[in-house]
Amino acid sequence: MDYEDAGEWWQVTGKALLRIDNISKNFGGLKAVADFTLDVMEGSITSLIGPNGAGKTTVFNLVTGIYSPDTGQVVFDGKNITGIQPHAVVEAGIARTFQTLRLFENLTCFENVVSGQHCRCRSGVIACLLNTKSRREEDARAFNFAEECMRLMGIWEFRDELAKNLSYGDRRRLEIARALASRPKLLILDEPAGGLNENESDELMDKIRQIRDSGITVFLIEHDMHVVMGISDVVAVMEYGRKIAEGTPEEVQRNPDVIEAYLGSEEDEELLATLKKGAMEEVTQEAAQEAGEAV
Ligand SMILES: Nc1ncnc2c1ncn2[C@@H]1O[C@H](COP(=O)(O)OP(=O)(O)O)[C@@H](O)[C@H]1O
Ligand SMILES: [Mg+2]
Repeated sequence: MDYEDAGEWWQVTGKALLRIDNISKNFGGLKAVADFTLDVMEGSITSLIGPNGAGKTTVFNLVTGIYSPDTGQVVFDGKNITGIQPHAVVEAGIARTFQTLRLFENLTCFENVVSGQHCRCRSGVIACLLNTKSRREEDARAFNFAEECMRLMGIWEFRDELAKNLSYGDRRRLEIARALASRPKLLILDEPAGGLNENESDELMDKIRQIRDSGITVFLIEHDMHVVMGISDVVAVMEYGRKIAEGTPEEVQRNPDVIEAYLGSEEDEELLATLKKGAMEEVTQEAAQEAGEAV
């Protein structure tokens, strides 16, 4: 497969790798997710955005088996995975990272990444005890692949360092390397650029593109609009548990409902500015077009 033009490729295959079909989740009286539907196309980078508390993380938790939806279903790669256990979701081919880091702080980076492929190891207890040849070969394959994942994320040099000694940005990359080690078809990232500076965010965007270009579909939640608008093929927007918009980054930026959703949410001032800029450019373009036509 030639991934050079992967941005086009997902549109060509037109296959939904993940189908989220009308899912809802209530917490007490609160509708955290309400009739939410979204197709994540194979080979795409799809982003989920929305104000804090909109229900984004809950959607991820419903897809990855942390919670079961009250209604609706989740279909992955043609299989119904609604309500299956988190470990079975990983085995099916979905890996994720969390909004707050979840690493084994007192293990080395290499050990953290090797732990990520636990689900792909076939040897049983007896083989482990006897240290059989097939078991040793399996270890070698696991170690090689862990190295590949760490090199891809640019953290191979930290292999023998304890996870807790890494900078925040490197720890974020380590978490993605560990997720990649489970050989997912779909990688789900919850605010991967959270807490990163501009340089680190730019580097991360390149890494996410590389991951997608290697054939892994990416579904992410992100607050950093520079990241979202820079890398996404499709952006879906949530507010109060519902999907209020879906489209290309350009379409979403111009959508009045999206701008409305972000009005008044102070922490998203920068985001609002980005959206308004998109809307202004649209108005200016239209005005220019009309002026052109009038001449
Ligand atoms: N386990 C839970 N119990 C009760 N309420 C929850 C739980 N998880 C999320 N919520 C609530 O559901 C809403 C959506 O939360 P979340 O999905 O984390 O939003 P987002 O990720 O968009 O910021 C929020 O009001 C949050 O407080
Ligand atoms: Mg969240």
